[in-house]
Amino acid sequence: MHLVSMIYASKTKDIDDVAIDGILQKARSNNPKLGLTGVLLFNSKFFVQCLEGGRMDVNRLYNAIAKDPRHEDPVILDYREVPSRSFSEWSMAYIGESEYHEPMAFKYTTKKSFNPYDMNGDRIRAFLSEMVQVANPASG
Ligand SMILES: Cc1cc2nc3c(=O)[nH]c(=O)nc-3n(C[C@H](O)[C@H](O)[C@H](O)COP(=O)(O)O)c2cc1C
Repeated sequence: MHLVSMIYASKTKDIDDVAIDGILQKARSNNPKLGLTGVLLFNSKFFVQCLEGGRMDVNRLYNAIAKDPRHEDPVILDYREVPSRSFSEWSMAYIGESEYHEPMAFKYTTKKSFNPYDMNGDRIRAFLSEMVQVANPASG
């Protein structure tokens, strides 16, 4: 059994609330069947998503998501085997645009504007975990 956790960042393309709802609905119907959990963060310029679960399932889903035309330039920021899940309560937690982005970005980087492409694996992981704690997304 290989429990893995992957975090990637991508750039959004023509994304509105309807598109976000569609992505979340898909994630919340597909992911539980595969035993996948995670979090999706959105801030109008970027997506950051953590996918956690079995190695094959995480890789398959990432390969499908990477081809999705609703975003571009997906880059894997961190991939590791983990002893336990960080987001086990969520088939896909969602953190939208909020007042938390800038102060939290500043805590983990040198700049106030959030740019996940500038963040290393440990920092993006810690950033996501802390964002989930402060934003406290509804289970979903
Ligand atoms: C940023 C982003 C995140 C996504 N996350 C998920 C996800 O967690 N689970 C999922 O099944 N699809 C996700 N999708 C949608 C997939 O790219 C793809 O449309 C979907 O898996 C196809 O599912 P289907 O074969 O059931 O139609 C995401 C798409 C984008 C753009």
